[in-house]
Amino acid sequence: MTKISKKYFKKTLSKFVTGITVVCVNDKGNISGKTVNSFNSLSLEPPMVLFSLGNYSSSINTFLKSKYLTINILSNKQKDISNNFSKKKPSTKDINFLNGKKKTILIDNCVANLECKLIDKIKKGDHIIFICQVIATHYNDKLKPLLYYNSQYK
Ligand SMILES: Cc1cc2nc3c(=O)[nH]c(=O)nc-3n(C[C@H](O)[C@H](O)[C@H](O)COP(=O)(O)O)c2cc1C
Repeated sequence: MTKISKKYFKKTLSKFVTGITVVCVNDKGNISGKTVNSFNSLSLEPPMVLFSLGNYSSSINTFLKSKYLTINILSNKQKDISNNFSKKKPSTKDINFLNGKKKTILIDNCVANLECKLIDKIKKGDHIIFICQVIATHYNDKLKPLLYYNSQYK
């Protein structure tokens, strides 16, 4: 089998249009967030979703030990939030958070937010798939989503 170069593989995957989410964990008052576009729906009954995080991510252990988390689907006005949470040390200063169930933290003014219970973690390659049961959802029909295509915001 021909080896696929990492660069070519990434470029190929960039042709798939996605939205952008920030996955947030509230670890006893310390908020950890990561920008993630590997989010997808998994099951309707029971409601489940998934996303994957690189095992090299600086905050992987915080996510691995979390019980509850939120998935915040960004609006086209939240590019700064996406850039912020893709950094190693993101700031949480200028971001409005709302309280969810089970001490979760939601980002305000998103197109949608999902409150989730982490039910499974599957290690595959250099990523870990996080399987989440959805315990509450919110959405705002008046906002438009932030899109990502060809490694650029659209
Ligand atoms: C638009 C966008 C989407 C991203 N999606 C993912 C993703 O699905 N999974 C992932 O592990 N990292 C993703 N990242 C990268 C992470 O946000 C983060 O930069 C990476 O995990 C390294 O984290 P660290 O600097 O804390 O080590 C994405 C970054 C951007 C800008």
